[in-house]
Amino acid sequence: MKKHLLPFIAVTLGMISCNDDASNKSTVDTIAKTAAAVSAKNWGTADEQPVKLFTLSNSKGDTVTITNYGATLVSWSSADRNGNHSSVLAGPAALDGFLQKPPYFGAIIGRYGNRIGKAGFTLGGTKYTLPANDGPNTLHGGVKGFDKVVWTAEVPDSNHAEIRFSYMSPDGDQGFPGKLSVIVIYTLTNDNEVKIRYEATTDKPTPVNLTNHAYFNLSGNADNLILTHQLMVDAERYTPVDAQLIPTGQLAPVQSTPFDFRKAETIGARIAQVNGGYDHNWVLNKWDGKLRKIAELTDSISGRLLEVSTTEPGIQFYSGNFLDGKFITADGKAINKHSALCLETQHFPDSPNKPAFPSTILEPGQTYRSETVYRLSVK
Ligand code: BGC
Repeated sequence: MKKHLLPFIAVTLGMISCNDDASNKSTVDTIAKTAAAVSAKNWGTADEQPVKLFTLSNSKGDTVTITNYGATLVSWSSADRNGNHSSVLAGPAALDGFLQKPPYFGAIIGRYGNRIGKAGFTLGGTKYTLPANDGPNTLHGGVKGFDKVVWTAEVPDSNHAEIRFSYMSPDGDQGFPGKLSVIVIYTLTNDNEVKIRYEATTDKPTPVNLTNHAYFNLSGNADNLILTHQLMVDAERYTPVDAQLIPTGQLAPVQSTPFDFRKAETIGARIAQVNGGYDHNWVLNKWDGKLRKIAELTDSISGRLLEVSTTEPGIQFYSGNFLDGKFITADGKAINKHSALCLETQHFPDSPNKPAFPSTILEPGQTYRSETVYRLSVK
């Protein structure tokens, strides 16, 4: 886990300690070139711990805000085709909203993204029981998953738009075996990419499937439903689900179904043919564990294009079917059904109970690594 991480300098909550070697010429040159920065402010408390809001900025004028509560991506402000900035993420504006058990807006999901059927699995001959928080099943890591804990934040260099979060999930956390050490690093590049890198190590075999649950609305306005966005997903197959959204185990062809997004399609065009709306895992083509582009989302109102690259074998496209207007964005818009959508890179749901799916079991001595890059531009 430690090998390729830079020596990070801890942020004492309240101030960013940064490398005071700024007189060093190469450091100055880098700063001049990148003009990227991280700042922090107090955002409240959770579990009696201080919560901060960090702002990452790049040379293009994009800003991303991220909190250490749930290691959550709160906003991503970027220019539309006319140069007007607005956030492409839907979610509450203040910590208060994130504490009211929202539907995972922008949060890191763990230890297991999406569902584990019948709230349990057997590993090494032992049956593990998890909290059932979605009918009889476990969703997004349990009752208190990684989205609902305060992470430790570190800023390696406040002149570089990067932040590193760490969290130690104890043995038995939400029923999962093994003490799991997790690191999530967010970087905002000058190419308007948000890169998310995940690492984890364990002291006992355990399932791990980490993702980010950002809700995108590329128009920057939750009143414009995502039904008019166009989506492309590089996948010949998807994992059909039962009535409780648990994969049947089948890998079904997308051809001649409303799940065929191999060419860009308008999301609303066939959504009525999908019971409840899209909330499925696509089996991404050419998975070899290396980063490759697997999806594109476009919005004709703003002209924005989002490109998604990942090292993962799957992606959950969730069309915001259960959003109900309870949460309000920073600009006062209710987040309603289809106000926003998620593109969650992942291993397939219920893999611990589906031996034919790619394994999600992390063994002691191994390092879990995953990377996803979201890139914004305008057309
Ligand atoms: C799931 C949905 C769930 C949502 C949480 C998605 O990842 O697939 O079924 O409702 O997260 O709000």
